[in-house]
Parts: sequence; C-alpha cells; structure tokens
Amino acid sequence: MIKKRWFSRSKVEAKSDGNRYFVRLNFNERVQHMIFLICFIVLAITGFMLKLPEDIIQKFGSAKDLVFFYRGILHRIAGVTMILVSLYHVFYLLFRPAGRRWLMDMLPRFKDLTDLLGTMLYYLGIKDTHPDYDRFYYKQKMEYGALIAGATLMSVTGLLLWTEEMWPKFLLDIATIVHGMEAVLACLAIMVWHLYEVHLRPRKFPIDNLWITGVIDEEEMREEFALHYKKIMEDPELRKIYLVPEHEEGEASLGV
Ligand code: HEM
Repeated sequence: MIKKRWFSRSKVEAKSDGNRYFVRLNFNERVQHMIFLICFIVLAITGFMLKLPEDIIQKFGSAKDLVFFYRGILHRIAGVTMILVSLYHVFYLLFRPAGRRWLMDMLPRFKDLTDLLGTMLYYLGIKDTHPDYDRFYYKQKMEYGALIAGATLMSVTGLLLWTEEMWPKFLLDIATIVHGMEAVLACLAIMVWHLYEVHLRPRKFPIDNLWITGVIDEEEMREEFALHYKKIMEDPELRKIYLVPEHEEGEASLGV
C-alpha cells in the first residue's frame, strides 16, 4: 500500500526515511510548472472578470475603472510570461538532455493504444491489473497534448486581440469566440481533469506534493510506472538519472 504524503517532503527527509525515491519532475521542470500554474490562475481570474455581470462590477464603486485598468495589464503580463515559458519549454525539449528525454518519452506510440484497451478491461473488471506503464502513459500524453494545443490557441488569439487595430473585424470576431470558449474549456480541463487525475484521486487526496518535491517513492513507482521502473533498475545510466542518490542530487533532479 502506498503511503499517503500529506506535506511536502524535502530531499533530505526523503533520503533519511529508509525509502528509495525516483525523480518524476526535475528542478527545471518544477520551476516551469510553477510559472505556468501562476500565469494560468492570473489569466483565468483577470480574463473571466470581463464576464462579470454588471451588478457585481458596480460593487467595485469608484475603484471600478482602476481595477479594470490593472486587470487588463495583469492579463497581458501573465499572457506574455506564459508565452515565454512555453517557448522556453520548446527550447528545453529540443536542446537539453532531460528535455529530449521528456520529448521522446512523451511521443505517442502503439503501446499507448494497447495500454488504453488494457486499462479499460481493467476498469471493467475483466483484467485483474492495469498494463505496465512506461514513464508517461496514454492519459498523461493526451493531457500534455491538450495543454500544448490550448496554450498555442490562447497565445495566438490573445495576441490577435491585443493588436486588434491590425486585423479585420471577422478575424477578431473569430479570435474573441475561440479565446473565450477555449478559456472555459481550459479551466474545466484543469479543474476537473487535471485536479482529479493528480490530486483528488484515491491515496493522493487532498494534494499530491510531487509538483513541489519532484519525487515519488519506490512502491508508487513500481505500482504506477512498472515498465519505467523495470527499465531504470536494469540500466545503470537510467539509475543515475532517475534514482535519487543517497548523498548527491541526480542528473535529472538538477535539470540537466
Ligand atoms: C490560459 C490562458 C488564458 C485564459 C484562461 C484567458 C482568458 C480570457 C478571457 C476569459 C477573456 C475574455 C474573452 C471575452 O471577452 O470573450 C480574455 C480576453 C483577452 N485575453 Fe486572454 N486568456 C488567456 C491567455 C491569454 C494570452 C496568452 C494573451 C496574450 C498575450 C491574452 C490576451 C487577451 C486579450 C488581449 C483579451 C481581450 C480583453 C482584454 O483586453 O483583456 N490572453 N482572456
């Protein structure tokens, strides 16, 4: 049974509790995730403020104009930051060893299809166990793909809306509809799909602190990512990357 981790655990604690730990997100990836997370929350709040009903807006009183002035500025600052961190992510995927490993492990493969079928049979009770997943499995790959598509769509339509004087009205109308609808879809995907998949599932509730610590213990690794675990244990090079060493940081945990 996997032990529930309620609070974030430092690497030092992680190493001294007798368990072995495996890197899921290195430091660099955790920082990218954190920046993206903050941008997303700011964008959602400052974006949906435009949809507030008039009687609520009136409650801001004389501060209304100032609040909405800063709302627009904040939305743009968070938007530009999100675009920059997304571009950095592309650079990371192409030019950093850990990024290239991420990209290769994230590419869709035929095994994802068989994993999907195997998992459905497991959910239906026809099979006793789910398939042995590799580093990323089909659900995570779909969510990552949806994130890339969504961020691209929001960035392009957001920049069009920002530079509205340069574009014909019909393009701006489309951009407004796409930006507004994708904003709803993205918020639902994060609040329902991502939050449930990551934090609200059994054994993780109320929060999975992996996004802060970056590591999971051996039991969880063996149970959730059995194929990845097997590959790591059989390959000394992968052990150097993914197994948190006793006394020093692993290559991946430093974000190399
Ligand atoms: C997840 C990311 C984002 C969310 C959830 C979001 C949300 C929203 C929402 C709900 C609106 C109102 C749309 C409407 O009135 O129908 C809006 C408007 C707008 N967004 Fe975004 N947005 C995001 C990303 C971006 C980005 C990356 C940019 C550009 C850098 C941007 C720039 C704008 C602009 C210029 C407007 C027009 C209204 C204004 O002046 O603020 N947005 N956004």
